[in-house]
Order: sequence, then C-alpha cells, then structure tokens
Amino acid sequence: MIHLDYTNMLAPAVSGGIPEDAWENADTLFAKAHVAFEKHREAGELGFLDLPTDMALHAQSVDFAKRTRGRFDDVVVLGIGGSALGPIALRTALRKPQWNLLDAGERDLRPRLHVLDNLDPSTIAGLLDRVVRVERTLFVVTSKSGGTAETMAQYVVVRDQLEKHQLFAKDHIVFVTDPRKGALRPLATQEGIPALDIPANVGGRFSVLSPVGVLPAALMGINTTSLLAGAADIVGRCTSPKLRENPAAVFATLQFLADVKSGKHVHVMMPYSDALRDMAGWFVQLWAESLGKQRLDGKEHVGPTPLAALGATDQHSQVQLFMEGPADKTITFISVPRRGSDVEIPKLHTNVPELSYLGGHTLGEVLDVERRATAGALAKRGRPNMTIELDEVSPASIGALFMLLETATIFAGGLYGVNPLDQPGVELGKQFTYAMLGRPDAEEARREFEQLPKPNPRHRV
Ligand code: PA5
Repeated sequence: MIHLDYTNMLAPAVSGGIPEDAWENADTLFAKAHVAFEKHREAGELGFLDLPTDMALHAQSVDFAKRTRGRFDDVVVLGIGGSALGPIALRTALRKPQWNLLDAGERDLRPRLHVLDNLDPSTIAGLLDRVVRVERTLFVVTSKSGGTAETMAQYVVVRDQLEKHQLFAKDHIVFVTDPRKGALRPLATQEGIPALDIPANVGGRFSVLSPVGVLPAALMGINTTSLLAGAADIVGRCTSPKLRENPAAVFATLQFLADVKSGKHVHVMMPYSDALRDMAGWFVQLWAESLGKQRLDGKEHVGPTPLAALGATDQHSQVQLFMEGPADKTITFISVPRRGSDVEIPKLHTNVPELSYLGGHTLGEVLDVERRATAGALAKRGRPNMTIELDEVSPASIGALFMLLETATIFAGGLYGVNPLDQPGVELGKQFTYAMLGRPDAEEARREFEQLPKPNPRHRV
C-alpha cells in the first residue's frame, strides 16, 4: 500500500511551504485538472490506465518468456527514453542487487538484462564484443514509433552482428512496437520476427506496464501478475475527483502550487533505497518530457525541473544545496520501512563513542533514521518536502508507484495548462539530425539548419 505524507509541504509548519489559503482553495484548481484528465480519457488517450487489466496484452509477454525460457543468457533492450528507463527501473527494483554480476544459479537461470538507452559506440561495441555471447542473446528492439534514429541505428548494428554469426534474426530478435505504425511492423511480417504490441494510445514514457517493461520483467522472472495487480489496485484511488483522497492528485497539486506560488521550480525525487534509485531516473523523464513545454493557450513556457537524488548517498553531495542553496526546490522522499533483507550492526568498539552508538541497530534502520533526520532538517530550514511511503519494495508496490506517478503527471499537465502526452520540443532537434545524416524527407530541415549561425572562431577558446 502507498501513502503520501505531505505535512512538510505546507506553511506555516514549514516557512517556505505552500501558503495555507492556496492549499485550502486547491479543490477548485484540481477540479479543472480533473476535467482535463477526463477529456484525455474520453478521447481514448490514456491507454496506460487500461494496461494493468489488459490480460491479452500481458499474455503476449508471459507467453514469449515461457516459450524462450532457457534459450538466452543475456537480454539486450535496444531503445531509448521511455522505451528504456522502465526496464532499467524494474531490474534495479525487483531483481537481486548486482543482477548482471550474479551467476546463472543465483539468477534462477534467468537472463541478465542490459538496456542500451544510448548509441555510444564504445558501450555497444563493448557489450557485443566482450559481454554477451550473441548466439545466447535475445535483442528486444523497443520503439513505439518504430522510427527513432538511435534505436534504429542500434538495431541495424545488431542485425549485422547476427548475420556475421550466421544467426537468424527471428530467433534472436523480438520487436516491441505500435500494432500498426512504424518501420518495425512490416519487417516483423516479412521476416517472421516476433512482435509484441505497445497499444496505439500508450506513449513511450507511459508504457512501462505494457510489453515495454513487462516483457523484460517476465524474462527476468519478475512476478508480472503482481506488478500489474498492484497498479490495477491503485487506479481507482488515483483517478478519483476527490483531491484529498487521491494521492496522485495531491502529489501533482502540491508540486504545482509549490512551483507557481512559492517559486519551487525544481522537483527532487529522492528514494532512500538503492532498489529505487532508477525509479527516480524514470520519474525525471516522465515529469520533464510531459510538463516542460509551451502552454496550450500559447501564453507561457512552463514546467518544473525534475532532479534525481539518492539517500543517503546524496546527503554527502546534493543535500547541502537543497538545504542552503536557492530556496527553489521541493524534495520528495520515498521511504521503505520494511526491507526484504536487513543487516544488523554488531556491537563492537563499545568504548569508541563514534562507533558504539551504531551497534544493535540495523543498516535499514539507520538509513530510515537518516531520511527522517534529513526531512526534519529541511523542514526546519523552511524547505518543503514530502514522503511517498511504500510498505516494501515488491512487484505490487512498484506497479502502484508507476501508476501513481503516471496519473499525477496527467493531473499536473492539466494544472500547468499543457498537453502532458506530447513532446513537440524534441522534434526540431530530430529533424536537424535527419538533415545532417541525409534522410531524404528532411530537405526543409536541412535548409533551416544551414541558416543557423556558423561557429565564430573569435568565440572559441
Ligand atoms: O516518452 C516518450 O515518448 C519518448 O521519450 C520516447 O519513449 C522516446 O523518444 C523513444 O521513442 P520510441 O519508443 O518511439 O522509439
């Protein structure tokens, strides 16, 4: 079960918090955001809400994982952005620590998982040359659009490798893509390459509970039924029109008010759990790409800046900035009081005060105490913060957390007056890339690119 404790977000308890009257009047504000949410839903644009109960879609991943069980030592996800960050977060959260370093027995004979999320040649060459044995590897090519340059480049490189090893693509590749659109579907049909669906109304950063995340999860042996059940269980709460009963609504409304009423433009996501470290990275993309854009009324450019941090590690790095730097941040902690395994600190050096007080506690306890101490210290300094409380890290709680943050993002879109489902800002850069690489349909972009200021040698040191 998930709860949200937002005591430290509000003034006067926390001096830099949201003014009392703004929070008291927030119901009307949220009601408008809920109307926008319902409009998206009625237009059939919120397909991510249906993923947890789409059994046929779930079966695509589970059946594929069953059919191929034991054939692969390594799975490599080729994809970027929303096609990559979910699988990374799932591996870190729900598989044993250092999963890829464990031997096959410790992995219950499940494959390692590598996710490219970039096309840096040294990473890809290193992976293909030294890490995986291509004949024992499955390549999951994930692209909603079926045309993203980075993913297509990764795919072509891999395809060539398979040919060099005289391996059939249909035995080593699976596509995860739109049911109809894009370059991958026709290839799947022509060459008998298996292809799993990302429903047409599910965008990249909202797709983790589709085969984008569920297939890698099933291959690694994660209980995907519980993952989806956890998400399904929270849909009702997270779509409720009653602000104060809906954790997603409260999260979105408080973050919005903190930004526009109190100048808190930076939203930090800081789990106190190594298992949740990559959930923060996943959230950063979701929040940034969904909310940072021009308002629909064309009046303003808006959007908070999300930032990922990790407790307690960042207490020795970014927390100084959060505590005493510009008062422009909110910090969302994620707490996990119940940990699967904990380590008791032995009672040694009883006469050394710097060591003896630790004895008898567990490492998990110390970590949790440090979170509470940091939250309290931030509150005392007038820095608003809240805590998402997870009972434990489990497939069900992670499914619920994904759903909570996805629905919160749609509400935040309504509050900011933007469309949270598009990303027009990345389009121009893509067009310029196509132009420079000579893609035939990018003639106009090539002309535009040529008119940009040329590098000025006097402005170069
Ligand atoms: O969230 C998004 O829509 C994007 O980050 C996409 O996931 C990313 O651009 C990759 O797109 P695609 O899955 O179409 O290859």
